[in-house]
Amino acid sequence: MFPAAIAVLQEDCLVDYRDTLDVMDEATLARRLQHCEGVISQLTDPITASVLNAAPKLRIVAQVAVGIDNIDLAAATARRIVVTNTPGVLTDSTADLTFALLLATARRLSAAERYLRDGKWQRWDIDLLVGTDVHGQTLGIVGFGRIGQAVARRASGFGMRVLCATRTPPPSHLLQELRVQHVPLDTLLINSDFVSLHVPLSAQTHHMIGIDQLARMRRSAILINTARGPIVDEAALTAALEEGMIAGAGLDVFEAEPKVQEGLLQLPNVVLLPHIGSATVATRTRMCVLAAENCATMLRGERPANPVNPQVLA
Ligand code: NAP
Ligand code: GLV
Repeated sequence: MFPAAIAVLQEDCLVDYRDTLDVMDEATLARRLQHCEGVISQLTDPITASVLNAAPKLRIVAQVAVGIDNIDLAAATARRIVVTNTPGVLTDSTADLTFALLLATARRLSAAERYLRDGKWQRWDIDLLVGTDVHGQTLGIVGFGRIGQAVARRASGFGMRVLCATRTPPPSHLLQELRVQHVPLDTLLINSDFVSLHVPLSAQTHHMIGIDQLARMRRSAILINTARGPIVDEAALTAALEEGMIAGAGLDVFEAEPKVQEGLLQLPNVVLLPHIGSATVATRTRMCVLAAENCATMLRGERPANPVNPQVLA
């Protein structure tokens, strides 16, 4: 946590702060939370039913992230524990990183930099590290919430045609304003040069992109994932990239972070980042402060700003 957020908590709460980088397992978390009324969690913390049940006084889980797939929401709701997240404050930084990753993958920036640093650059060459154009291409956005829309705004600056596939159809005024066409997922996969994922991880979206979906994509297409690793079947993706079923991938998230499949690490046509979508000082500070405010507000007996299960507060 950034110090500004600890300070917010210390105004109202007795703070038990764990200032180490190793991830706590369920047993350690359960032991640590047994007397706590609130917890500030990170996306690496397994807030499972057994952890929640070991914390009889717990009233709020305030997550420092917008994704909450590490938290058993149903178990928290059943125990009338409020879960909050940090939506909005990280939207633009994550959309910036998504676009940076898309550009880096299309124009082979990581391979080019490695080539130069390895001392291999001898001369300008007509086909040296040639990549794929981004301008004028079609971008398919899967999940059209805050980050998906922010990516669409960036794409329009690059003169891209934008398609989106969603579960709930977006309002037509939004599609018109952003000049985005709403299509079924299969249509998006068949017609996009770039496919970027922006759905939350859930039972519905787990392995939403598997071998069948990859087979529908163009052989020249690039897949970008800054949402959550398990939305993509990573073994299928590795095989698809090895076989040239698609041209490349830019990944900020992985199925078993921080482990990355050996096959992916060996591939030249992927750009791999260690889950840094929202990682700017300003954004990470805002996320920490917002989570601290959600927690402190709840423990003062007031309504926190970002409940994910507001029915608990009714
Ligand atoms: P959001 O505003 O809630 O947008 C998610 C969108 O996905 C919603 O429009 C939702 O629409 C749609 N959706 C949900 N389930 C779907 C399904 N089964 N099929 C199609 N669409 C579906 O969330 P956000 O703020 O944009 O964040 C999106 C995700 O990005 C987060 O959950 C998080 O996992 C990830 N993220 C990653 C990083 C990073 O560091 N790499 C940073 C921030 C966020 P409906 O529910 O209305 O259908
Ligand atoms: C980061 O991955 C988030 O969900 O905020």
